[in-house]
This record gives sequence, C-alpha cells and structure tokens, in this order.
Amino acid sequence: MTTIFNASQKLEHPDSQYEQCKDAEHDHEWTDEVAQWYAEKYGDWPTTYEVVKHINWRSKDNVVDIGCGTGSTLRAISNYVKHGQLFGVDPMPVMLKVARETSNDNRLNYLSGSAECLPLDNASIDKVISVNSFHHWRNIIAGLAEVKRVLTSTGRLFIAEDLDVMKLSGMDAQEIQQHLLKANFEIEQQQLIRHNEIEFILIEASLPAEKGALS
Ligand SMILES: C[S@@+](CC[C@H](N)C(=O)[O-])C[C@H]1O[C@@H](n2cnc3c(N)ncnc32)[C@H](O)[C@@H]1O
Repeated sequence: MTTIFNASQKLEHPDSQYEQCKDAEHDHEWTDEVAQWYAEKYGDWPTTYEVVKHINWRSKDNVVDIGCGTGSTLRAISNYVKHGQLFGVDPMPVMLKVARETSNDNRLNYLSGSAECLPLDNASIDKVISVNSFHHWRNIIAGLAEVKRVLTSTGRLFIAEDLDVMKLSGMDAQEIQQHLLKANFEIEQQQLIRHNEIEFILIEASLPAEKGALS
C-alpha cells in the first residue's frame, strides 16, 4: 500500500523512511527566483494539461508526476483518476508551495523529492508522468532506476517534452528514447501532439514483462 499523508503546507514528507528525499538535489539553475518566475509565467502552460488527454487513464490508477512544478498536470489528471492515489514530486519548495496553494483537492499529494529520490513505495505506482522535466533530472540513470522501483510490473512511464524546450535543452526525442532503452524500458509509442501554437512529444514506455518492477 502506498504511503499517503495529508497534503499540508509542510514541505517535508513526514515518513522518516523518505527523510533523505526532503533535501533532494535539483538542477542548480532552478533557484527560488527562477522557480517563482516559471510558476507565474508557465505554471499553466497548455502542455501541462493537454498531455493528459492523450493518456488512457483508469480511475483507480496510482499516479506520480515527477517534476510536477505548480501541479497543473496533476490537477488535470484528477479529472480522470477518481479513486487512485495522486502524487506530485518536485525538489523545489517554491513549486510545491504554489502547487499546494493552487490545489484545493486533498486527493493531490505534493511531496518533496526528485526523480533520483522518489518518496514512494516499491511497486506502488501504475503511471509515472514527467512533463518538461526529464531534461532537468540531475542523474537520468538514477532517476530511471527510481521509476522502475516505484512502478508496478505492468506500469507505464510517460515523458512529455515541448519541441521548443527540447531545442533549448539540447535533448531531443531520440536521446530520451536512448536513455529509456539503456535503462531497459520498452518504448510503446511516441506521439507528436499539436495544440494551437504548441507542439510536444509524448513517449510511452513500459517495463519488459519478464523483468518486473525491480529489475
Ligand atoms: C520546466 S519545469 C516543468 C514543471 C511542470 N512539469 C510543468 O510542466 O509545468 C521543470 C521542473 O522540474 C523540476 N526538477 C528540477 N530538477 C529535478 C529533478 N532532479 N527531479 C525532478 N524534478 C526536477 C523543477 O523544480 C521544475 O519544477
């Protein structure tokens, strides 16, 4: 059973098991000032909620959004996932503060952590999503190992990145796929999604059936 707690203004996960995640390292360019600026300017960028429409949610899915930022994606997911547990994980206290202040649904749990340190139990999550965050992960190998640890054996990983963000970051879809394959994920599909002015890719990956969540 996934550890769940009442989302409050506290930034730390109260479970000592995950104490090590509360000071999770983040990309150093994400200072408080940058996070505040991002939250105001891009916190509700259309990709954050458009992407959710392209995923086949089940009402009882347990979900984590890695690098959840201001929580826009998790709020959109909550329209589809009515009975599962919903977690947003981010290393930036400013982002978590905005996410908590903007969400008045106590089903949404915003936790301090990072891709490299997910404050979640083994094999407890059905769907992992990460929107415009993958290129910020400080250690992609460690992050993907954490994703594998928390996913159920039939779970799915969804990575979405805007095309212009990919240009800026220098990490293209092919490189993302290479990271996934190296970490022993299988690529289920890659979609190019256009919505008005925005274009983003959505990569869906799974764990090889015979490997299970902890391979
Ligand atoms: C461009 S923002 C995207 C936020 C949100 N997903 C969205 O689409 O608006 C990148 C996010 O990744 C987070 N981040 C930075 N380093 C991270 C890491 N190592 N693990 C997880 N998230 C990280 C940042 O704090 C920030 O919230």
